Amino acid sequence: MPKVLPFVLLALAAGPVAQAQTPPVQDMTVQRGAAIAESRCSTCHQIGPEDGMSRTAPSFNIIGLRHTPISLERQLGALKNGHYEMPPLRLETDEIRAITAYIESLR
Ligand code: HEC
Repeated sequence: MPKVLPFVLLALAAGPVAQAQTPPVQDMTVQRGAAIAESRCSTCHQIGPEDGMSRTAPSFNIIGLRHTPISLERQLGALKNGHYEMPPLRLETDEIRAITAYIESLR
C-alpha cells in the first residue's frame, strides 16, 4: 500500500478536497496530471487554478508561476529524494510530464 494513502483517506474523511472550479481540461496529459495531483498531492497542496497559499505547502498555481516548465520538471524529478518536509514520492517520468502539463495549465 502506498505510504500516502492514509493521508489521502484522512483528507477525504476531513472534508471535500475537490475544488469548486475544475480547471479546463485541455488534453489527456493535463487530465492525467490533474488526476495524479488529486490523488497524490492534494492532501498537502491546493491544486486548483485559483487557490492561494494554504496549509503548509505552496499551491500548484503559485508553483506554476515560480517555475519554467524545464525547472518544474527538474524539481518534480527531485521529489524522489524527498525535499523539505515532503516524503519521498516515486514519480515515473511520464507522471512528472503529466503533472508538469497540469501545473502549466493553471497559468
Ligand atoms: C505530505 C505533504 C505533501 C505531499 C503529499 C506533497 N507535497 Fe509537495 N510540498 C510539501 C511542502 C510542505 C512543500 C513546501 C516546503 C517549503 O517550501 O519549505 C512542498 C513543495 C513542493 C514543491 C516545490 C515548490 C517550489 O516552488 O519549489 C513542488 C514542486 C511540490 N511540492 C510538488 C508536489 C507534487 C507534484 C506532489 C504530488 C505528487 C506533492 N508535492 C505532494 C508537502 C507535500
